[in-house]
Amino acid sequence: MSSNGKLAREQGPREQWGGSLGFVLAAAGSAVGLGNIWRFPYITGENGGGAFVLVYLICVLLIGLPIMICEISLGRFAQRDPVGSFAKIAPGPTIGTRMLAMILFLAGILMLIFARVGLGLVFLAASVSFFFHGWRTVGYLCILTPFVILAYYGTVGGWTITYFLKGVFQGLNFSTPQEADATFRQIADTPKIAVTAQVGFMLLCGLTVRFGVRNGIELVSKFLLPLLFLLLIILIVRGVTLPNASGGVNFLLSPDFSKLSTGGVLLAMGHAFYSLSIGMGALITYGSYLDSKKNIFASGLMIVLLDTVVAIMAGLAIFPAVFSVGMPIDQGPDLVFQIMPIIFNSIGGSFGWFWSSVFFLLLAIAALTSGISLLEVTVCCLVDHFRMKRRSATFWATLVITAVGVLCTISHNDWSSLETLRQWITQLFGGARNSMFDLADKVSSSYMLPISGLGISLFVGWVWGTSAAVRELRRGAGPLPDVNFFALLAGLKDDPIAQAGTHTFTLGMIWGIFVRFIAPIGIVIVFLHSVGWLDIGL
Ligand code: PFF
Repeated sequence: MSSNGKLAREQGPREQWGGSLGFVLAAAGSAVGLGNIWRFPYITGENGGGAFVLVYLICVLLIGLPIMICEISLGRFAQRDPVGSFAKIAPGPTIGTRMLAMILFLAGILMLIFARVGLGLVFLAASVSFFFHGWRTVGYLCILTPFVILAYYGTVGGWTITYFLKGVFQGLNFSTPQEADATFRQIADTPKIAVTAQVGFMLLCGLTVRFGVRNGIELVSKFLLPLLFLLLIILIVRGVTLPNASGGVNFLLSPDFSKLSTGGVLLAMGHAFYSLSIGMGALITYGSYLDSKKNIFASGLMIVLLDTVVAIMAGLAIFPAVFSVGMPIDQGPDLVFQIMPIIFNSIGGSFGWFWSSVFFLLLAIAALTSGISLLEVTVCCLVDHFRMKRRSATFWATLVITAVGVLCTISHNDWSSLETLRQWITQLFGGARNSMFDLADKVSSSYMLPISGLGISLFVGWVWGTSAAVRELRRGAGPLPDVNFFALLAGLKDDPIAQAGTHTFTLGMIWGIFVRFIAPIGIVIVFLHSVGWLDIGL
């Protein structure tokens, strides 16, 4: 009997989401995170505002949505964690994966020759895995990536909690960038504070995951996501009613293409991946708890919509306020942690602490719902593969990820306490890394994410096959994947003649074309550019 069959026999019925809304809110909770409220506003600020937003929206629709649908359908079809999902469809190596392994092996050797030791070793390891395990390798990557992301996500999650508490106790009432910087340093670079906060954040994630899919993740998401929307609306109303706020709205919504570079376009694509939580197994995992009556097409669209709306809303909460007090908008990662408290103080008077607290509570909630999904990937793998009980799987996953995460936290600004590790990593990967935090961020976002995203789209498009995948999509979606796209756009979805046109372009067909061609090509371009191998004239 196959290992999958054995597993299914030995484990009880798989937990399922209570309803479509629960699934959509949990998946939207995963997508809506620091990426939306911390990263999106500052990269928009640095890349020309409205034009960047427009390109981002196009990337979300053309690449993000198709891959999101791939992941959810893969997980629902297999009803397993990411590794199990790949294994169910492609159980072992084939001639194709062995040839791919050879190519990876040659690439690895070439990299060693060109002294890119770390990357060379990674390629060699991937080639060995592909040779012996075939497509499961992409599943391994889908487990490893959230692990690495959560390690440093927990660091920032800890900062959000500390800032929220500091806000409540009126400790964010500074008015100059110097004071803001000193406070940030005190929080981020005092190991006792930063590690305690990180552990607190991880415990909250662990506590939720421990109670399972329906009683933990779904319940918490149903409560926290509406709260997040409420907080955002409060902040937007505050922001747009300030004097000169229209400059901020204008900046966000009016595209000025002269300010957009090719780098900005590629960044938008990479950020779409990160923000939608795709390419890392989280949505395969969440999809695996979905029953066959749910509509994946509609859910995917809803999740993408919610994530995008929150990003735009975060921009509307932040930019009008920034413009109103005349602060610079291109302050990079510091925008949220350093500039925003100054702004809230200046607009809020003696209520500055209140606005800061609302803002950092919002950020903490966003981080928490995403952290939960990152942890769930590892827990799901331990439960499905190692047949652990959810409770102990959660305990071990939280413990190990927190331990690695503490290294990110204590090395955030100063590597000296981890000197041996630093030297080892520098020797392997070259280049001066500022910290383990930077390394985890860079490696996961620039390398692991696009590679596993590419693996997923190639796998669904060419190995599992779009025809099998569309069959899965039809379950619960009825004829939606077969609706003629143009008939739908024209409002003629139910018109029999428009539907039966010979030159039809159904939603399923369009999706298939994007999964097989557009998304992989787009990802390869972004990847080659982000590792510096493709120069497209920036
Ligand atoms: N989408 C989250 C954000 O925008 O912050 C980050 C994230 C969460 C990435 C969960 C991946 C994931 F599995």
